Amino acid sequence: MNFKDIPKVELHTHLEGSAPPAFIAGLAREKNIDISGIFNADGSYAFRDFDHFLKVYEAACEPLQSPEDFRRLTMAVLEETAAHGVVYMETFVSPDFCGGGDVSAWRDYLAAMQDAADEAERTMGITLRGIVTGIRHFGPDQCKVAARCAAETKGDFITGFGMAGGEMAGRPGDYAYSFDMAREAGLQLTAHAGEWGGPSMVAETIRDLKVERIGHGIGAIDDPNLMEEIADKGVVLEVCPGSNVVLKAVTGWGAHPIAKLRDAGVPVTVSTDDPPFFHTTMTAEYEMLAKTFGWGEDDFRALNETALNAAFCDEETRARVAKRLEPKND
Ligand code: ADE
Ligand code: ZN
Repeated sequence: MNFKDIPKVELHTHLEGSAPPAFIAGLAREKNIDISGIFNADGSYAFRDFDHFLKVYEAACEPLQSPEDFRRLTMAVLEETAAHGVVYMETFVSPDFCGGGDVSAWRDYLAAMQDAADEAERTMGITLRGIVTGIRHFGPDQCKVAARCAAETKGDFITGFGMAGGEMAGRPGDYAYSFDMAREAGLQLTAHAGEWGGPSMVAETIRDLKVERIGHGIGAIDDPNLMEEIADKGVVLEVCPGSNVVLKAVTGWGAHPIAKLRDAGVPVTVSTDDPPFFHTTMTAEYEMLAKTFGWGEDDFRALNETALNAAFCDEETRARVAKRLEPKND
């Protein structure tokens, strides 16, 4: 099977985390910023564990200082993602890294990203939607600043609100104000949970933040009642197996719970999270799923259907993307 050519829907990526290291190193050189410590000798990102990953991630964002930098970044990421057959992609974008939460600066950054997304849609047939993201370890007050930016810019491009970062910072309910504000503005909701936090973190995230999707969510595997609840409510997990393996949230591909979650009726999707950090692509994720769990064409078709149904987009966009997922008869 040629995994690269399968048309794919990817729901869970971080825009800055998708930046090729050479792109970030080049920008840093242009601006005389010394972040050489975040790279290995071969130019890849260097980190020891999840906490160190978050620090390296923030350092990699330092050279991204203007809307033009984000336009170039968005284009570079979409080129790479489209090359792996992705026809619809959602990406987390953070006001914290784009003007520090100032709404008017945020609008300028968004316009630049949208400009690149429009060009990529025309030239590469890939559709991008943005999910404004609060950074959990920056605390609930800073998350509200991100939520305000999200509420002010909901539209054709910004369709969702989410939360990433250090999962053990506070409990989900501490961030409920931000999620309420985003929901009232008409945004769809997702939050990282159960990457590190276990089933109670996933359960509280669903209960207190009323999200439609969960980023990762693999901790749900330890609670059969929770898996049943997730299946009944139709909450969709954005599972990122390659990320979980590299960050050691699981001990290896063979130990990854994605197949067991799916067998329990939990709606699962597959994404890359921060592909250059984890040396992965959507093609590589599919290859590993086929090799580890024996998944084939029908399984990948079902994954993409689940993902498209859960996509934070309007019905016209969903119908347009559905056509791109149809098998070609030539
Ligand atoms: N930000 C970027 N990648 C992340 C991950 N895997 N978990 C939490 N926050 C993140
Ligand atoms: Zn993530």
